[in-house]
Amino acid sequence: MFEHQPTARWTAVEGFLSDVVVRPDHSLKRAITTALEAGMPPIEVAPNAGKLLKLLVQLSGARRVLEIGTLAGFSTIWMAQGLPADGRLLTCEYLAKHADVARANVDAAGLGHLVEIRFGAALETLQALADEGVEPFDFVFIDADKANNPQYLDWAIRLGRPGTAVVMDNVVWEGAVLDPAMDAVNAPGIISALHMLGEDPRLDGTVIQTVGSKGWDGFALARVL
Ligand code: SAH
Ligand code: DHB
Ligand code: MG
Repeated sequence: MFEHQPTARWTAVEGFLSDVVVRPDHSLKRAITTALEAGMPPIEVAPNAGKLLKLLVQLSGARRVLEIGTLAGFSTIWMAQGLPADGRLLTCEYLAKHADVARANVDAAGLGHLVEIRFGAALETLQALADEGVEPFDFVFIDADKANNPQYLDWAIRLGRPGTAVVMDNVVWEGAVLDPAMDAVNAPGIISALHMLGEDPRLDGTVIQTVGSKGWDGFALARVL
């Protein structure tokens, strides 16, 4: 009956849920509009997913959050809003424009003192963090170039500790996980990371499929063992 335009209906329901339940604040709405004005791609997490990230940060009691892939800081702001006053969030971004827009959005949200944006290729930043001997992260959100997902998952373990929570976005990719030819750039990394999640003795995890304004996708939630 509704199969003609499922994404339109998924998006309408998401809007309803966002207005009634999620209720993003002005700073989160600003992050969306400034990104659009700057011509950035609208690939931030959906509002209900952002709220889930905040709740997971709070429920896990995380004090130190690592994010890989900042964009305009939408997910950054959600997670930082879940941090205690002495919390820290470090986020990795390799496009200067994105990092600049995100900095302004995070500052406008009153969260600038909690958030460090590290400019550069994430794999180099992660190596640098290890070299610096940073304190382990309690919560890691992986949401950058999907080809590197297995490496990012490995870094989440190495920079985490037993009990660290890991969320990895975009792990269904419109079903391309069953048909990698749909996206030869991104699908292989997504699939390899899922096999790693299932097989690596350092991880225990699951995947939730999602629909909404971002189409058909999903996120993985894992615990470092
Ligand atoms: N987490 C954001 C969305 C991130 S989109 C949110 O939900 O609001 C992915 C971001 O990762 C983009 O800004 C892109 O520029 C950045 N990115 C892609 N490859 C990267 C890399 N190798 N290192 C660092 N950042 C990267
Ligand atoms: C893309 C990246 C994302 O992180 C996302 O959630 C959706 C799309 C992309 O690169 O197209
Ligand atoms: Mg994503």
